[in-house]
Amino acid sequence: MDFTHLSAPLTAAASTAVQRDKDDETTPQPDETSASAADRRATPALSIVIPTYNERKNIERVLEQCLDAFGDTPVEIVVVDDDSPDGTWELVQQSYRDDDHVRVIRRTEESGLATAVLRGFEAADAERYAVIDADLQHPPERLTDLLAALRQPNTDVAIGSRYVDGGDIENWSRRRQIVSKGAIGLAKVAVPSAWNISDPMSGFFAVEADVVDGVDLQPRGYKILLEILATCDYDGVVEVPYVFTDRDYGESNLDGEQYLRFLEHLGMVGVTSWGLDDYVEPDRAVRAAEFCGVGALGVLVNAAVFWAATEHLGVFYLVAGVLAFLAAVQWNFAGNWFLTFDRPDDQPILSQWSRFHVVSIAGFLVYSLLLAGFVDGLGVSAQVANLGAIAGASVWNFLGSESVAFKSA
Ligand code: GDD
Ligand code: MN
Repeated sequence: MDFTHLSAPLTAAASTAVQRDKDDETTPQPDETSASAADRRATPALSIVIPTYNERKNIERVLEQCLDAFGDTPVEIVVVDDDSPDGTWELVQQSYRDDDHVRVIRRTEESGLATAVLRGFEAADAERYAVIDADLQHPPERLTDLLAALRQPNTDVAIGSRYVDGGDIENWSRRRQIVSKGAIGLAKVAVPSAWNISDPMSGFFAVEADVVDGVDLQPRGYKILLEILATCDYDGVVEVPYVFTDRDYGESNLDGEQYLRFLEHLGMVGVTSWGLDDYVEPDRAVRAAEFCGVGALGVLVNAAVFWAATEHLGVFYLVAGVLAFLAAVQWNFAGNWFLTFDRPDDQPILSQWSRFHVVSIAGFLVYSLLLAGFVDGLGVSAQVANLGAIAGASVWNFLGSESVAFKSA
């Protein structure tokens, strides 16, 4: 793979590229004026995908700036809006009704930034795609640089980067900077092919269509670029610096839940990148890891309740054991409902809760049987047998949670 950091020289390349296309475009086509208009629509040089959610105040400006940046170079813009309550999709539809270059897709069944971008790719007609945020935190005028970079030989991905020379971030709190750097560090561990890339989580990038077309991408949350870098086949990657500016209008949609989904996505991408997906489905591996994490903390809950009940409340130890077990079951239910499984919303939560209890109580029986079997049957020492029985019961509980407790109808 070839990594080049591009800055000034590229801008020159970009403008010659623009110039060349301009000439192509304006070459008179004798008597088929309407056909040439159709041609222009059929073969844009770039499809620009803009995911939007509540961007009414920004969308018109970003669309104008994108179109202006390319001058006469034919580009198309695909806005993918998730049925924004502020009517972003409607505004685009109305304002660009007569403009062939701008289309809007209104999604009502699905949501999420990464899948919106993929939806845009599906609808796009050009041989190269670019992605840019609607909120003007990414500079539309740099799109021409991304396109110029892709036009270099052996270059399949052009990434707008905040972390190469000339790139920057305006007004980020120390906290957000640290989170960003930390996330990039984790991403590099999960995705070895992102090792040399300074901004693998950029939302501002361009890619050759044939790199992503037909590839089954399974992104979660925000990080579509990372998924592409991990899953697709591509040649050179080039980073183009840009300055990530503040939002003037509206607010970021990135919330705590997105951080969580990011970590999950990273785990899944990691399983695939390291070639472990031959042995386990990536999302299942992540669920298993989360289940173990919740369960490990559940053991602490158990121990704390057991201790409090016996030491402070003077409860008989067997009764304390039952209380501690039930407390841990509550913890595990809450943790796994929130974190691990997909919160089946077609099942009443009370029914999930009861089924989780059935699974857990049966799990306790599994534990007891294994313990007895290891000690009496196999002559294993009690300490080791205990750990083995815990492991066995955990597998039971995981499978039961997956296929009984948190299963949607
Ligand atoms: N269709 C759709 N659906 N669009 C969405 C959704 C969604 O669920 N959530 C956000 N968007 C759109 C926003 O309207 C905006 O155009 C763009 O996606 C980015 O969303 P922000 O909420 O502004 O993200 P951010 O500024 O915190 O983060 C951006 O910058 C990071 C650093 O470059 C994103 O581009 C990140 O992907 C990127 O890592
Ligand atoms: Mn933003």
